[in-house]
Amino acid sequence: MPNLLSARNLDRPAIEMLLASARTFADGGRHHRRHADAVVALMFFQESLRTRVGFDIAAARLGARTAMIAGGKHDVSVMLEPESFEDAIRSVAGWCDAICVRHPDAAAPRIAAELAATSIVNCGNGWDEHPTQALIDLFAITSLVGALDGIRIGLIGDLATMRSAHSLLVALSRFDEVMVRCMAPASLEMPDTYASTFTGTRNRLEQTNNPRFDDLDVIYVAGLPKRVDAAALTLTDRARYRIDASVVAALRPGARVLCPLPRLDEIAVEVDASTHAGYFEQSKLGLPVRMAILDYALGGITQGRTS
Ligand code: CP
Repeated sequence: MPNLLSARNLDRPAIEMLLASARTFADGGRHHRRHADAVVALMFFQESLRTRVGFDIAAARLGARTAMIAGGKHDVSVMLEPESFEDAIRSVAGWCDAICVRHPDAAAPRIAAELAATSIVNCGNGWDEHPTQALIDLFAITSLVGALDGIRIGLIGDLATMRSAHSLLVALSRFDEVMVRCMAPASLEMPDTYASTFTGTRNRLEQTNNPRFDDLDVIYVAGLPKRVDAAALTLTDRARYRIDASVVAALRPGARVLCPLPRLDEIAVEVDASTHAGYFEQSKLGLPVRMAILDYALGGITQGRTS
């Protein structure tokens, strides 16, 4: 069955196929209730608003039904010890056509795919990846800014742990003449395992602790969670990585600020009224992208290489 486990498994034709499908859904050109017999399980072992509810609604738009299995803080009585993740996957996979899974263990999607004969969609695995968000981000860039080839994008925040930034960087490596500037505090830089995907491409990757925005088309605010470990930042340090009115005032015309959300203080609320703010439009564009992903997982579209 078609899985979506990692951005590493998405080549350019697969990305373009999914984005084209999302465009068709966004424009109303594809039959919306095309999966009326399907059931999608939503197994979330970490908190989520956008991804969990977004896939629930995307499934509904496709005519599919969903079964919600929410762990973590949402329902501590379900799916925690002593039942193992493996047993839970084996059980649920026998009843449904696709499983969207979010889990704190980076290995969880791979384990699920090995155990299940049904499609697995990785909705966030630990500090590793968030490939469905990366597809939403690419769709938002093409919808709000322009072509991915030649794009100049800055990723800012805790790039060590923000999985959306990891998947987006890997996905951007599939395009040409892309410039990515990773802007993170010391000790929170982009790990080499993702940065190395740019090696040998016709793209350029910069890494800096000194944010600079004036030459960028997209500022992607990956997030700066309030850590309690040795990497916790002072308020002064947090302010250096915050997007506020003074930052957007100096952006190029047409540049957009994107963010997978949620935000804490990484983007000042005053930025919401700016024409540069794109994050709520980006969030809205998540619906046709999630429909395209489910359509793919349910066998509606089959071109391109994903695994
Ligand atoms: N963007 C995103 O993954 O948001 P949630 O954590 O609310 O799902």
